[in-house]
Amino acid sequence: MQIPDGLKALIDDGFIQEIIRPLKSGKEAAVFLVLVDGQVCAAKVYKQAHLRNFRQRQDYVEGRQAGNSRDQRAMDRGTRFGKQKREEAWQNAESDTMRKLHAAGVRVPRPHGNHDGILLMDLVTYADGQPAPQIAAGRFDRLAAVQFHRRIMQEIAKMLCAGVVHADLSEFNILEANDGPIIIDFPQAVDAARNNNAKRLLLRDVANVTRFFARFAAELRRTDYGNEMWLLNEQRLLKPDTALTGKFQAARGVVDANIVLQAIEDAKRDAAKREEVKRWREDKKKEASQKKAPVRAPGR
Ligand SMILES: Nc1ncnc2c1ncn2[C@@H]1O[C@H](COP(=O)(O)OP(=O)(O)O)[C@@H](O)[C@H]1O
Ligand SMILES: [Mg+2]
Repeated sequence: MQIPDGLKALIDDGFIQEIIRPLKSGKEAAVFLVLVDGQVCAAKVYKQAHLRNFRQRQDYVEGRQAGNSRDQRAMDRGTRFGKQKREEAWQNAESDTMRKLHAAGVRVPRPHGNHDGILLMDLVTYADGQPAPQIAAGRFDRLAAVQFHRRIMQEIAKMLCAGVVHADLSEFNILEANDGPIIIDFPQAVDAARNNNAKRLLLRDVANVTRFFARFAAELRRTDYGNEMWLLNEQRLLKPDTALTGKFQAARGVVDANIVLQAIEDAKRDAAKREEVKRWREDKKKEASQKKAPVRAPGR
């Protein structure tokens, strides 16, 4: 992986002392291991806007406000200056969101700020001190899956309390650190109160994480933490440590599932019955034709 000039410039500027090695090139950014004041950190270098592929960007930026009205006007008009401002805003958003979430006690890497479009943050490490893997790479026994899932649901609730919906959460943006899950990758995060897509995106985040862990613990499919926390938050009852049950609408979910299962059973029974009647009719027909034309003995 080529070392971007912007990253080299951070050495000259004194923000980092050394570029150790590339860590990963993700879909939106390349991440490098760097040395900051003697500590190994992660440096996230964003891909150029045209190489990124957030398809419905408008969904995500809704509700965000520029620093001043001149920038906002330029962004709305899409002038060159406006595009540049929009890009800066996109890159700063991740650092700002992480700062806010870290202060709120959410398990995210501690951010060290955004310097010329490069986000510096603590490196998340696994038990052996190596960079932590994505949970997507993990195998979980049933109990571990349920426990991990519950911890992540609590982190999502904490984020919601801080007014943030991740909006791209999945097993690829959660790392398995030595002491549990850490959530990363926030440039698209949306404002829970201002963005009209916030509820849909929250439910999608919860569904993605639940789908992943349900591979190891099927009972998680019946949980509905998303609607539960959204409603509690709307009623101003959600606190970072609110004990969630995952049971909101679970009763309806179970009834719905039963209705669906019942319908499938009914359909199967009907099909079997039709098959039976058809076979019975065919047998009758065969019997009738055999009576009409009795089999003759050969030679007669
Ligand atoms: N602070 C960090 N500590 C350890 N690994 C990290 C850190 N930040 C990013 N990574 C690694 O880099 C990958 C890409 O980072 P991410 O922020 O998800 O960018 P992208 O938008 O490209 O997916 C992550 O999946 C993870 O493996
Ligand atoms: Mg990612």
